[in-house]
Amino acid sequence: MKFMLTGGRPLKGSVDVSGAKNAVLPIMAAAMLTGDEVVLEDVPDLLDVTTMRGVLEMMGARIERAGHSLRIQAPAVLDIEAPYELISKMRASIVIMGPVLRRAGHIRIPPPGGCAIGSRPINWHLKGLEALGARITMDHGFLDARAERLRGARIYLDFPSVGATENIMMAAVCAEGDTILENAAQEPEIVDLANFLNEMGGRIRGAGTSVIQIKGVKTLTGTTHCIIPDRIEAGSFILMAAACGGDVLVRNVIPAHLASLLAKLQEMGVSFQEEDDGIRIWGDGRLRAVDIKTQTHPGFPTDLQAPALALLTRAEGTSVITETVFENRFMHVEELRRMGADIRIEGRSAIVCGQERLSAATLTASDLRAGAALVLAALTAEGTSEIRNVHHIDRGYEGMELKLRGLGAAIRRAPDGEQPGGEAAAPAAAERGARLCLLPR
Ligand code: UD1
Repeated sequence: MKFMLTGGRPLKGSVDVSGAKNAVLPIMAAAMLTGDEVVLEDVPDLLDVTTMRGVLEMMGARIERAGHSLRIQAPAVLDIEAPYELISKMRASIVIMGPVLRRAGHIRIPPPGGCAIGSRPINWHLKGLEALGARITMDHGFLDARAERLRGARIYLDFPSVGATENIMMAAVCAEGDTILENAAQEPEIVDLANFLNEMGGRIRGAGTSVIQIKGVKTLTGTTHCIIPDRIEAGSFILMAAACGGDVLVRNVIPAHLASLLAKLQEMGVSFQEEDDGIRIWGDGRLRAVDIKTQTHPGFPTDLQAPALALLTRAEGTSVITETVFENRFMHVEELRRMGADIRIEGRSAIVCGQERLSAATLTASDLRAGAALVLAALTAEGTSEIRNVHHIDRGYEGMELKLRGLGAAIRRAPDGEQPGGEAAAPAAAERGARLCLLPR
């Protein structure tokens, strides 16, 4: 599928942010730690959630979705071989390793795939699990991890990896004795996972700081948990509103999760205000250039680098955007250049000279956040852009085109084969500014 998007309209109205993709994926995996039923609320309807569901079902879990809630029941005996077809689609599926290893004592899993944004090894996941007592070998293309018992340990991560922190927490929560995880990731999704595990009976302290202390417990029980809002989706809509001008209220946001983005918006001269039910952004779309360096939380999130870069292509002055978390995460730059953006790459930095205008083009999304960057650029460009490979966007944004149409954007989803037929349909007046209501699927 592709998006047909005619740029140049201000965005107006309000948009509701969905539950966080990066929180729900490890929490779904953590549901394998108990044989009791777990109920998750505010679960976004995303391709990645469907992939994780498929992985867990292949391992024997029973899962039902009703609207935005998910009921998960792991079986008494887990199937310990993770399916290659699904694991290779999504890197985040590696987080099943810790919980399945703990529950079943054995897991066979192929090294995962995912977005094309660097080599993305999993050495720190494996090192952490080995420190807890796992024996891990490579066998016919599968990682084979075994541990009859896991024992608490003191583990120092060379880098605060999000996935490694999650895997270690999930393996250690029911290990014998205490685990101290140093230089842990501090992302809000780590805190949501720790809260979930504690609601199940775990004893985890310090999540959200660089030292996490885990007192091993014998068993965990079922619980009901509401997933935190997606700060990256919220940030993407905030950046789109800043790019297009107009007046947008982004609802279901935790502003503290977006502090680094809001600080940069202030530097750019974007008008925004925290309100009771969200963040309101307004203005005429004119911005000043700023420098951005991606970092682990609470620094500027790498997942907002691509849309922020796209926004700065039209700011007044020169911006330097430095990517420190991933190698090879500037795949959107070539596509933005085709729209007339003036960007050059020097090592890990992109130097962006702001232009007055971008022009529409046929574009290809190379990964999830690059896709969001192209949508942002197309929203401001003159003419109708065609954005291909929308499946990347569907991995992490629930109904992005529906939400944007609710704000007055002229965007629609079309089959790949459809010939360009002029402008994308403008939304009906009543649809503009309307609160988006997604039908449960
Ligand atoms: C998670 C997020 C992703 C986000 C990233 C950084 C999920 C599902 N995905 O990904 O959206 O962009 O955090 O905030 O939550 N690394 C190693 N060895 C390892 C692990 C990581 O070298 O064992 C490297 C990676 O290649 C990368 C960096 O560390 O360069 C950060 O990776 P990590 O924090 O682990 O990100 P993910 O958990 O994969």
